[in-house]
Amino acid sequence: MSKLLITGVSGFLGWNICQIAQNKWQVYGTYFTHPVQIPGVISLKVNLGNFGEIKSLFENIRPEAVIHAAAISSPNLCQTYPTESYQINVIAANYIAELCADYQIPCVFTSTGLVFDGLNPPYRETDLVSPVSIYAEQKVLAEQGMLARYPKTAICRMPLMFGLASPTSNSFIQGFIQTLRAGKELNLFTDEIRTPVSANTAAKGLLLALEKVEGYLHLGGKKRISRYEFGCLMTEVLELPKDKLKPCLQKDVTMAAPRPADVSLDSSLAFGLGYEPLSLREELEMLREKV
Ligand SMILES: NC(=O)c1ccc[n+]([C@@H]2O[C@H](COP(=O)([O-])OP(=O)(O)OC[C@H]3O[C@@H](n4cnc5c(N)ncnc54)[C@H](OP(=O)(O)O)[C@@H]3O)[C@@H](O)[C@H]2O)c1
Repeated sequence: MSKLLITGVSGFLGWNICQIAQNKWQVYGTYFTHPVQIPGVISLKVNLGNFGEIKSLFENIRPEAVIHAAAISSPNLCQTYPTESYQINVIAANYIAELCADYQIPCVFTSTGLVFDGLNPPYRETDLVSPVSIYAEQKVLAEQGMLARYPKTAICRMPLMFGLASPTSNSFIQGFIQTLRAGKELNLFTDEIRTPVSANTAAKGLLLALEKVEGYLHLGGKKRISRYEFGCLMTEVLELPKDKLKPCLQKDVTMAAPRPADVSLDSSLAFGLGYEPLSLREELEMLREKV
């Protein structure tokens, strides 16, 4: 089997990509602070803040394709630590594209729908970016830097994702479920609209991009939904107490990083390539026994 390098396999998305990529690839995965063992995957500790470690990683593995999923992924953390997160989210991403160009291998980058300001949804690949937080700015700089160094890079803009947690990282639903099972109130925004997909679906999209895409690709789901509506659907499908679910407004809550209201993605391009997200109900039903 050909060798696929996935960065960030201790993370939520990287771990989920490993679960399905193994059918076709010999997977090599990197972690940093959270050692992780995934059956069938060769995992290695790499600090993406260190150029020498990234270079040695490529020299030692000689990957035939790369999915770069590692990042400082919390917008609030990036807002608080802009310099440290810039090193990982921009500089390391650019260097990975440079190495993929040297080796002439497919390179997929996990960007975000947050590159848009949320005022003119749904967003297509050709729409102008307008980031409102430092995290989103860093993703824009990485997108542009990677394409400048290696125009064949597939820049995949990911929506909000949910799914099975990795041993060391959660998606947003684990917190929701824990709160409701503990009998506590869960306040969810009615004015924050997204096009979520499961990480399993997103991983399939990323593997598709690896084979078929150069440039930008949106990997959103088919339904535009608020966090509150998502919570209602989740309580119904996962049979969680619904009375503790409370609607609230994003604009009434202060957070370190500003958040756009509606960054729904128009993912028609990906749908045309065979990206086929299930309905959110079906996605949640598949998780029912596992979360
Ligand atoms: N989750 C979402 O809904 C969402 C939405 C849009 C886009 N994205 C993007 O999708 C990608 C994956 O997100 P995620 O939710 O899976 O993030 P995550 O759970 O926070 O995982 C981040 C990964 O990056 C690694 N990492 C962080 N700093 C590192 C460093 N200095 N050196 C090496 N590795 C480092 C972490 O390793 P350790 O934990 O071992 O340190 C971890 O494996 C990111 O690019 C994120 O921006 C995510």
